[in-house]
Amino acid sequence: MHKIALQAAAIGIAFASFAAQAAPAQTAEQLYQANCAACHGAKLEGAVGPTLGQHAWIHGAPTKANLIKVISKGVPEKNMPAWSPALSAQQIALLADYIAANADKKLAAAPAAAAPAAKPVASDLLSGFKLPKGFRISVYAEGAETARSMVVSDSGIVYVGSRKAGKVYALVPRANKQSAEVVTIAEGLENPIGVTLLNGALYVGEIGRVIRFDNIDKRYAQKPSYEVVKVSLPNDKWHGEKVIKASPDGKLYIPVGAPCNICDTDDTKSAKIYRMNADGSQLEEVARGVRNTVGFAFHPTTRQLWFTDNGRDELGDNTPSCELNVLTKFGQHFGFPYCHGGVVPDPEFGKGRTCEEFVEPVAKLGPHVAPLGLSFYTGKQFPEAYRNNIFVAEHGSWNRSTKIGYTVRLITLYGNKMVSDTSFIDGFLRGDEVVGRPVDVVTLADGSLLVSDDYAGRIFRVTYDGK
Ligand code: HEC
Repeated sequence: MHKIALQAAAIGIAFASFAAQAAPAQTAEQLYQANCAACHGAKLEGAVGPTLGQHAWIHGAPTKANLIKVISKGVPEKNMPAWSPALSAQQIALLADYIAANADKKLAAAPAAAAPAAKPVASDLLSGFKLPKGFRISVYAEGAETARSMVVSDSGIVYVGSRKAGKVYALVPRANKQSAEVVTIAEGLENPIGVTLLNGALYVGEIGRVIRFDNIDKRYAQKPSYEVVKVSLPNDKWHGEKVIKASPDGKLYIPVGAPCNICDTDDTKSAKIYRMNADGSQLEEVARGVRNTVGFAFHPTTRQLWFTDNGRDELGDNTPSCELNVLTKFGQHFGFPYCHGGVVPDPEFGKGRTCEEFVEPVAKLGPHVAPLGLSFYTGKQFPEAYRNNIFVAEHGSWNRSTKIGYTVRLITLYGNKMVSDTSFIDGFLRGDEVVGRPVDVVTLADGSLLVSDDYAGRIFRVTYDGK
């Protein structure tokens, strides 16, 4: 534990110069070579054990959760050792990421193989969701593999980033506007989860760079070319995926997550939120002590930056809480790695610090819920009570003994204080079965709400009829 923290700190220092290397991935590579290569081949090609590249996976699709399970428990009767507790949960997670990254690169060419085995049919799927009275849910688009952040253009096209699929999609509304066709506009990108629009251009955040598709509404159908925006950001794989969002005053906001579960990042470029001009110039820090934010939004009237932050792991099932935060002054510190969830001093890094030194979250969303995208509801379709309040997509836990999250919540506010945190869409988790994992929420011009789901590659649409 301590050794890993030191290692991570050293990595942080190496990145202080914004150097473009991926040291945590090297660590995964080293772990793999030392413990796994003998049976699975130096290049994952297989030997005594099966290949860990593309193949018919014996123990379920190579999702992080499945991989962690099989690596931890092993298959002793088939000579696959159990690696827990010989390797720490952190190391196993690192290996799972490493294997998933390689497995999926090849699977991207054959998406059918990556699809979860037994999807419920659409009618069961929809009737299993629970929403407040008067709301309806439908499938707006399907086949947007690993769909992540969304942004809506003035002409009603929704652009969607993705994770392992490496693609950016355009959801083009059909004539009846009740559903949309998925058009792939770019592929082969490195976890292009972040999308935003500025001056008619679509900006996409990959792990190691930001790219720009000019005049996108006119060009999305022709596999448009893109420009690389000149900006050097750390490109660690761990928490390295980057959401990106244009602010009302025309800047681009972009976070850099901590390259670890827990490590000292204050003197590094990580665990911060930055902003820059549209051309990538004038990169400046706006917030620090942010472990890993995967969603933010600007308040419709105050224009302050609101963002979610994912809490650290390995302090148990019930602590610390993930956060919803608001930035009221540039340069504010939100606690990582010293204080978590506003109230939990870190057992190691919190020594000699107090939680009072840092900005408290507006809302504690719960442990391991993994809040990702958030959005202020500014539409006219839903009742007045929803106006300017927040929808948060909770992707759900991956390593908690009982799953939590897998929901879209409504957070109501009075000024910058939370009034209530209630369920808006439940039913992505049904008993033990996961049918979807919500990632982002956006409002269409007609006031209906879209929710992306990277598990099944769907986009849901929620409408209100009051009945
Ligand atoms: C002594 C040999 C051996 C070592 C060492 C070993 N494995 Fe395995 N592994 C196997 C065998 C054999 C299987 C197939 C088990 C089965 O048939 O169910 C397997 C299966 C797996 C699977 C599941 C593959 C699938 O198709 O579902 C994963 C993932 C995996 N190993 C990861 C690892 C990792 C990570 C390490 C190193 C930390 C490792 N293995 C070390 C022998 C080994």
